Amino acid sequence: MSAVDLSRRCRLPELMDTEPVAFEEFQDCLRDLTRINRWSLAYRPTLGWLDRVVRAQPGRPLRILDVGFGHGDMLRRIAGWARTREVAVQLTGVDLNPWSARTARLATPPDLAIDYRVGNVFDLENEGVDIVISALFTHHLDDEELVRFIRWMERRSAVGWFINDLHRHPIPYWFVRGMVRTVPVNRLVVHDAPVSVARAFTRRDWRERLRAAGLPDDAVTVDWCVPFRFGVGRIK
Ligand SMILES: C[S@@+](CC[C@H](N)C(=O)[O-])C[C@H]1O[C@@H](n2cnc3c(N)ncnc32)[C@H](O)[C@@H]1O
Repeated sequence: MSAVDLSRRCRLPELMDTEPVAFEEFQDCLRDLTRINRWSLAYRPTLGWLDRVVRAQPGRPLRILDVGFGHGDMLRRIAGWARTREVAVQLTGVDLNPWSARTARLATPPDLAIDYRVGNVFDLENEGVDIVISALFTHHLDDEELVRFIRWMERRSAVGWFINDLHRHPIPYWFVRGMVRTVPVNRLVVHDAPVSVARAFTRRDWRERLRAAGLPDDAVTVDWCVPFRFGVGRIK
């Protein structure tokens, strides 16, 4: 991708969604994503939003579902957050790729009860959940699937939902593209990291997709988070 049009969402697929790879390579890719998540303060928007939920509904136990959990790092962070805040949580993840569940299980200490499941989010059985979260997941969907996902979360969550994803903007695009060519990272990350920014969203995209899903502007917060992410959240 030499010239890139960031005025609209890019449709180029990511290798992690399309290329069948061995477990070791996928695991390596997810490890790199976790490192990038740590450097880029990726957990903060989700944990900050969960703090808001707890302030709004103190003492309530929370069943939390993470869609597209990858390495499972967000769920492990939430386990730590819940311990510190003394919130009772039940943590579940669903991810399409079986290598994600295998990687996340290997990375999770035995004393952390996290249920990592394999499957497409839209095929999940109709079980109750209080909160649906996702990180770096929604840019994998096309616009139609994204609207379907927003409606799905709205139906399934008793308390609310939160999306943590990238801001489509030239600064992160060129920064990430340069970074993955300088720092040694997995081949999939070299391709997918800049494509992810180009597939991601602007504030206007979010407002349009939320309205298409039937949610008025005052029902959902769309917060810009350092560095170049959006936190899109709804507390019911
Ligand atoms: C870029 S990774 C994000 C991983 C992790 N959440 C993070 O922040 O690092 C996106 C994940 O979404 C998963 N995924 C893509 N489409 C999915 C679907 N329809 N249902 C469940 N998981 C899906 C992929 O397998 C992949 O593990």
